[in-house]
Amino acid sequence: MTLAQSAASAASASAAAVASQAASQAASQPDAASAAQPASQPAAQAGAAAPAPVERPLVQYKPKALSLTINGKDVGPLQVPEGLMMIEFLHEYAGLTGSRLGCGQGVCHACVVILDKPDGSSEEMRTCITGAHFFNGRKIRTIEGHAKRNEAGEVVELSPIQQKFLDHFSFQCGYCTPGFVNAATVLLERLKREPVAKADVESTIMSALDGHICRCTGYVRYYEAVKDVVMSTPGLVKDAA
Ligand code: FES
Ligand code: FES
Repeated sequence: MTLAQSAASAASASAAAVASQAASQAASQPDAASAAQPASQPAAQAGAAAPAPVERPLVQYKPKALSLTINGKDVGPLQVPEGLMMIEFLHEYAGLTGSRLGCGQGVCHACVVILDKPDGSSEEMRTCITGAHFFNGRKIRTIEGHAKRNEAGEVVELSPIQQKFLDHFSFQCGYCTPGFVNAATVLLERLKREPVAKADVESTIMSALDGHICRCTGYVRYYEAVKDVVMSTPGLVKDAA
């Protein structure tokens, strides 16, 4: 074998080895191979522009009609995303921002509104964990509905419970106050229907306000204010005075 023949033979063997190694790597790295050339994409289109990204929102909202009565006024029908929580509806659709979002998990009760039932009774409802459409066709009161207002919409007289909370300096930052006002109002309305014995006043107040969390005041002045209203309102305590 001449020197030239020897060189040609060595080059041929080297090329065969490189080709073999490349084939072996491609076989052992399918992802890399498919990333370079997707199976569904013909080779002729490999240089084509990439398709526009498809938008895939995490949540798809379906609007649904909602009508209810808030503080004596009919609201709706409004198209509201199904699954929206009531607190968001109040803030973003009804323009009523007095109800407070605290924990957002049903624990602190800062967000409660009053649900007025057909039988004349009332109940607190937590709006952070109750969907807006639960209230469809129902009547509620929010903190904005307690005080008396003049024709210009200005507050001219607080409700008895609001006034007593002020008189007793019951709150500091006030974040929890809308919830306490609603809870105490529901309690007063219940006591009008079912008066309580004087000996049970304190325990009744404790259990009515029990779920409400206040980070500032330690509760005592809230409880004192509610007791003041209960004891001074005729008809709420069976054996008062
Ligand atoms: S914000 Fe609703 S219970 Fe805390
Ligand atoms: S007054 Fe601040 S949380 Fe109650």
